[in-house]
Amino acid sequence: MRGNIAIDGPAGAGKSTVARLLAARLGYLYIDTGAMYRALTWKALRQGIKLHDNERLVKLAQETAIRLEDRGARGIAVYCDGEEVTAAIRQTNVSRHVSLVASVPEVRQRLVKLQREMATSNRVVMDGRDIGTWVLPGAPYKFFLTASLEERARRRHRELLDAGQPVELKKIKEEIRRRDALDSGREVAPLKPAPDAIIINTDQMTATEVVARLLTLIDP
Ligand code: DC
Repeated sequence: MRGNIAIDGPAGAGKSTVARLLAARLGYLYIDTGAMYRALTWKALRQGIKLHDNERLVKLAQETAIRLEDRGARGIAVYCDGEEVTAAIRQTNVSRHVSLVASVPEVRQRLVKLQREMATSNRVVMDGRDIGTWVLPGAPYKFFLTASLEERARRRHRELLDAGQPVELKKIKEEIRRRDALDSGREVAPLKPAPDAIIINTDQMTATEVVARLLTLIDP
């Protein structure tokens, strides 16, 4: 029997592309949990909130409406209090600060609650850092995608170039390295594979190949 699918892994491992394709293929809802942390970070930055002010961030999380709209093969649209922020949340400034916002336990609590609600009313492919370990520990399918730092940086670089945001590859590499360290080292729900997750190194694989591999594991 099929059920929810959890996909975790470090930045740039190909999670979102793979999760989106897999969800479209299975007719499941795709939930990009990173986009939710990004949307909140975007709002905090816009309001000039100090990102070390945890109390303020928690209040912000409580009063912010974040909505994801699955547009199938076209990906998801992200709304923050009704305003579309799909492109804005991918900007470097948000990427640079999101780990800080995501490290606040009560902020996570609020977003995890929303994520779990979405997964009870729909069959989902959910990607993030703590989906298999914390958000959906009972998911029957858990995958942890990894790739070398070099390859992940190259992929992000290409994505940003395609989005018209030229950034030096070296800078992206540093940024990813820093973010991985913060996401893996935090106390609450750190990035790590669930004990029962299948770990897949995607260095030599295209997204389509990864999806094909996952499909064989989901429905042998
Ligand atoms: O997947 P992403 O790069 O868009 O995620 C942005 C950040 O959000 C990432 O650095 C860590 C955080 N995050 C998290 O802590 N937990 C999740 N489930 C998803 C993302």
